[in-house]
Amino acid sequence: MCLTLSHHLFSLSCLLLSLLLLTNRSWASPWESPPVPEGFAFPPPPDAAQNATLEYMDPSLPPLLLPGQSPKCSLLVLQQDFADTVGAPPATANYAPPPDCPAPWSRVVLELSASASDLQKDRIAAIWVDGAEILRTTTPFPMSPGVFWRVRKDVTRYTALLRRTSADGTGGGIISMMLENSNATYPGVYSVNVSLHFYRGALCDSAATRPADEIKEAKLESVLAAHPTIKGIYRKPADLIIPISKCDGRSGFWFPVQNETDIQSATVVVPNNTYRAVLEVYVSHHGDDEYWYANPLRSNGPQRARDGLESSKANGGFRQVVATIDGRYAGSAVPFPVIYPGSVNPFFWAPVAAIGAYDHPSYDLDLTPFVGQLIDGKPHKFGLTVRDSQPYWLVSANLHLWLDAWSDSVEGALVRYKVPPLRLSRQADWKETEGKSEIEGQVIIRFSGWVSSSKGNITTSVRHKIKFKSHIEAEEKGEVTNVEMENKARTNIRIERDDVVIGRVLVDTEAPFNMMTMSSNGGGGSRFHKTKLHHMLEETRSVAENKMASFSTIADRQESEGSVLMQEGVAMWGSGDTKSTYKFRDDKACYLRTVNMVGGKVKEDEETASCGAVVAW
Ligand SMILES: *[C@@H]1O[C@H](CO)[C@@H](O)[C@H](O)[C@H]1NC(C)=O
Ligand SMILES: *[C@@H]1O[C@H](CO)[C@@H](O)[C@H](O)[C@H]1NC(C)=O
Ligand SMILES: *[C@@H]1O[C@H](CO)[C@@H](O)[C@H](O)[C@H]1NC(C)=O
Ligand SMILES: *[C@@H]1O[C@H](CO)[C@@H](O)[C@H](O)[C@H]1NC(C)=O
Ligand SMILES: *[C@@H]1O[C@H](CO)[C@@H](O)[C@H](O)[C@H]1NC(C)=O
Ligand SMILES: *[C@@H]1O[C@H](CO)[C@@H](O)[C@H](O)[C@H]1NC(C)=O
Repeated sequence: MCLTLSHHLFSLSCLLLSLLLLTNRSWASPWESPPVPEGFAFPPPPDAAQNATLEYMDPSLPPLLLPGQSPKCSLLVLQQDFADTVGAPPATANYAPPPDCPAPWSRVVLELSASASDLQKDRIAAIWVDGAEILRTTTPFPMSPGVFWRVRKDVTRYTALLRRTSADGTGGGIISMMLENSNATYPGVYSVNVSLHFYRGALCDSAATRPADEIKEAKLESVLAAHPTIKGIYRKPADLIIPISKCDGRSGFWFPVQNETDIQSATVVVPNNTYRAVLEVYVSHHGDDEYWYANPLRSNGPQRARDGLESSKANGGFRQVVATIDGRYAGSAVPFPVIYPGSVNPFFWAPVAAIGAYDHPSYDLDLTPFVGQLIDGKPHKFGLTVRDSQPYWLVSANLHLWLDAWSDSVEGALVRYKVPPLRLSRQADWKETEGKSEIEGQVIIRFSGWVSSSKGNITTSVRHKIKFKSHIEAEEKGEVTNVEMENKARTNIRIERDDVVIGRVLVDTEAPFNMMTMSSNGGGGSRFHKTKLHHMLEETRSVAENKMASFSTIADRQESEGSVLMQEGVAMWGSGDTKSTYKFRDDKACYLRTVNMVGGKVKEDEETASCGAVVAW
């Protein structure tokens, strides 16, 4: 695949003008700079005005659709303009699987293709099928008209939702999308098309049968075939997916969570022939928690009134999303700190989005050891909350269930449940605007249970380890801040039959985050921030089952640097460079993509099917 770089031409002058438009307050002339603090280099004078359209992108997934790799059929499932939709119910459309290519599918890809007509803020959005979430996303922060973008996601794991037809009595499904937009301040309207692409048969042709000039593509196709369609813990798509979401979807199916005592729940009856269960949790942080990862811990002492740091934003940089069954802990995850397109410095994320911004990571919790207590035919309450949270979070989950077609009921029991609390050491040492705080903790959780079905009497043991550290420091009267986070998790799943290990799943996640900011007075009540940021999401999965072993690793990294002038929370202008690398490797193939964005322009966009030329980090 080759990107036309000319497509990415980006005009700084457009940006400057746009940002001046974004604020109600404008400089006398766009070229008249605000007072420049010493030691900071301002962007060079802008070029002549241009009216190029600009593609915003997220270089984090190998191409899911390639030339020569055409879907068996494609459906446009939702088409909507979101202009003034605050408080409105989600956009909905009827969904039925394509009659000309019924399930099973070897792969299903969701494609969200969208554009912004004009300047607008970044907005949170989600797509649900019958109340079960299949994508959590944010829009870009369009700083000029003509912005468009595309999100592609492998949704094969939601096959159970997508294959529902009128024939099975459900009357087909409803697909809905929530995107609350307001055109009151900025005129931008978001136009969205949501499509599903269904693939059948083998996912790649043999390279030998292809002409030489297609060899490179063929290599990419082998990558495509190798890309994990089903994340390790799923192994194969579930037979049934039950949403743990707000049943009245009038304000979206996500639950708003205000604080950790605000436990949102759904009560469900689990089929009595369930033999495996995975809970997939989606979260996003908003309001006072938009920057939770950078919140210092300031239990006492003066607040930094000048920066508007209210006490609600000084509760420390730790959050944990927790799932419960009938009030009892069943699993948790420290969320990956997704940076929104308008957050930190919007110029870092135009036109390359931050990791996960267009396709938020979801968190998979293996609940198989609890199956024994869930299959008693009685309703069970699945709860969700976010520890240490401030208003507000949007949380929902999908309960993926695998059913035993060969029996009407299975039996099982939870035999081990060792859930020590995650104890955190919290330390804060502040004098006025200077000081530091640290939150640190780690825990190992273990549970195991057996389920006896036509597959045999299988014991599943889950060991989950969380290791977390947040360190936040402010120096120079609070003008220099440093935010560091270490966030590691390891999930070990052991599957045994008759005391013989028949399968193992290992998932390792690491998400370090580092951000250093120097701030100064920008004049006229504005603040000038110079920021250096480095973050990463690395996941390694290995699955061994039925004498087959597979391994894959994904490392998504970004390094950004630049400055921004903020006035009353609005970016007046700025600049940013972001270097992204995305590396995927498994037993068969490797894929590396490097995108170098300098001052709003994509200077380099390289992808290779070989990881020989690994970028030095
Ligand atoms: C803007 O677009 C129009 C139509 O494509 C073109 O004729 C014009 O030259 C463009 N202006 C600039 C400054 O690029
Ligand atoms: C906002 O969008 C609505 C619905 O399309 C439209 O009627 C209204 O005129 C728009 N308002 C502004 C200020 O553009
Ligand atoms: C949506 O699809 C229509 C055609 O069905 C197309 O004209 C339009 O440009 C598409 N919009 C986006 C944002 O992709
Ligand atoms: C937590 O949120 C709930 C629900 O909004 C609210 O009723 C309660 O007062 C909040 N508790 C605290 C301590 O803020
Ligand atoms: C399991 O559920 C099925 C279908 O709901 C029902 O017919 C069957 O009697 C149940 N079996 C037991 C042991 O409860
Ligand atoms: C399944 O195995 C467990 C542990 O090995 C045992 O305690 C249990 O009784 C067995 N259940 C059945 C139905 O055989």
